Amino acid sequence: MKNRSSENTIKIIKTITEMKEVIKKYKKMNLSIALVPTMGYLHKGHLSLIEKAKENNDVVVVSIFVNPTQFGENEDYGVYPRNLERDSCLSEEAGADYVFKPSVEEIYPKGYNTYVKVEKITDKLCGASRPGHFRGVTTIVNKLFNIIEPNRAYFGLKDAQQVLVIMKMVEDLNLSTEIIPCPIIREKDGLAMSSRNVNLTKNERQIALVLSKSLFEAKDKVKAGERDLDKIVSNIKANIHNEPEITIDYVEAVNMLNLERIKLLEGKVLIAIAVKIAKVRLIDNIILEGN
Ligand code: PAF
Repeated sequence: MKNRSSENTIKIIKTITEMKEVIKKYKKMNLSIALVPTMGYLHKGHLSLIEKAKENNDVVVVSIFVNPTQFGENEDYGVYPRNLERDSCLSEEAGADYVFKPSVEEIYPKGYNTYVKVEKITDKLCGASRPGHFRGVTTIVNKLFNIIEPNRAYFGLKDAQQVLVIMKMVEDLNLSTEIIPCPIIREKDGLAMSSRNVNLTKNERQIALVLSKSLFEAKDKVKAGERDLDKIVSNIKANIHNEPEITIDYVEAVNMLNLERIKLLEGKVLIAIAVKIAKVRLIDNIILEGN
């Protein structure tokens, strides 16, 4: 990694033109660029991505954009938490150099008509219950890659399906950005960090712990020799059903590559959960390995 100039306060960039000019400058200097794409309201999970990006790259850009095209009509686009000042300070503390915070009109100007869609794996899990969601994700990520031309982009594995979909897009479209998947960061009590957690009441937050507890229990069962994934999934569902405030979207055990359901644990399997507690959608997962 090369030594960059002595600038140390984070810069907030709002236009694509300015962002591209900045990137051009660094490309000429042959510096490596990392992108941490986010929708803001940063938590420790995001900060771990920024820190990792800083370790391995010369310039770190955090994008903050609540992307309307990945939200369905009745979803939480309007109430998704937003706070640029807080996010800029946190990004700077974690080592980012730039925040890219475009407006919706900057990204999707009037007459915007182009979308990127990865097929098949986007029909499963979150894709099945949120039609169009991944089309919005791949479109914005593709645009960010074109604007920022990152050598590496960092994504958290809490959104495991998102990581797989983005990796597939990169492979299929021969994009040059390396995707770096990073582990889920959890609160001390096990709750997976998510920007949406702030929309939970104290009681709902407590109830939400059943997700991580059930996943850890699944891990223990596998450690003790269980290989029947139907049993593991049923057990998780039963735990969640004990909490009447929770509605299950899915609990599934799937192959890590194609997200097809599997019944017997061999190699790596993703146990993925999506639920709603009141109006808040939460996801969590664990990767289990049989021997
Ligand atoms: O994971 C997210 O926060 C978003 O889906 C992403 C990757 C920033 C695209 O809007």
